[in-house]
Amino acid sequence: MSLKGKVTVVGAGFYGSTTALRLAEYNIFETVVLTDIVEGKPEGLALDMNQSRSIEGFETKVIGATTTAEGAGYEATANSDVVVITAGLPRKPGMSRMDLIGVNAGIVRGVAENIAKHSPNAVIIVVSNPLDEMTALAQIATGFPKNKVMGQAGMLDTARFTNFVAEKLGVPVSSVRTLTLGSHGETMVPVPSRCTVDGRALTELLNEAEIAELVDRTRNGGAEVVALLKTGSAYYAPSAAAARMAKAVIEDSGLVMPVCAWVDGQFGISGVYLGVEAEIGREGIRKVVEGSLTPSEVESLKVAAEAVRAKQADVKDL
Ligand code: LAC
Repeated sequence: MSLKGKVTVVGAGFYGSTTALRLAEYNIFETVVLTDIVEGKPEGLALDMNQSRSIEGFETKVIGATTTAEGAGYEATANSDVVVITAGLPRKPGMSRMDLIGVNAGIVRGVAENIAKHSPNAVIIVVSNPLDEMTALAQIATGFPKNKVMGQAGMLDTARFTNFVAEKLGVPVSSVRTLTLGSHGETMVPVPSRCTVDGRALTELLNEAEIAELVDRTRNGGAEVVALLKTGSAYYAPSAAAARMAKAVIEDSGLVMPVCAWVDGQFGISGVYLGVEAEIGREGIRKVVEGSLTPSEVESLKVAAEAVRAKQADVKDL
């Protein structure tokens, strides 16, 4: 199989380095670039990953590059096809994702500007928190078309929901389909009407209270991990989600995934980055998919849209 394309992962913390490793192990990209502002860390991790290539059987070359906030080191990322931005601080126990907005806005803005300079045609996947706001900010800072900037959240929240449903019912995760839309935060919108187990409606298998409990655990899925870890936040499931999105882009797969995308008219919502289902391809978001939702799910999506819209209006000044 011929390798193609270049993907950059900004930030070599647990989230970024795990994402880089997953992307390398797919053995589809020619190059994975991992960057960080901690001198030597991305180079060291890249060297370590490259040394695993003969064991795991991948030819993708991993390149580590130390960067500065002023933009030094970004040459290594030049002409990336996809860029995953993980830069920023994670939550500490008791923090909401929104508590990170001030500090992470400065970091994400700087990274996005440097990326735009060196990779003007890249598709950007943002994972920094608060997710919906940082995605909006990355679009503003890059000046890229809105379809080329998306955020990772729905894939993760959906995977968490799926895991909880599978555990509750004692079935393989592969038999479970779930969906979450809305924000990656308080106004996350799990969509029970679109959840199935072996094709059967979840609502036939669990009662309302049981579903509500799983929905609640999904909404707090990240915080539950943060509370256990005490330092840092989740990264295995988040990196799996981000890496799959980058794969869908480079393969121009057309897969429909729940992601944070620019919504303009769908579900009667306009002008906001929001968690929706979208078709992913080489140009980023090919289109937002308006799947069937119940009236109350649409209503919840609208509530989420207004909540994130208010916060997204603030980020341009941060
Ligand atoms: C989480 C963080 C990464 O949900 O947002 O785990």
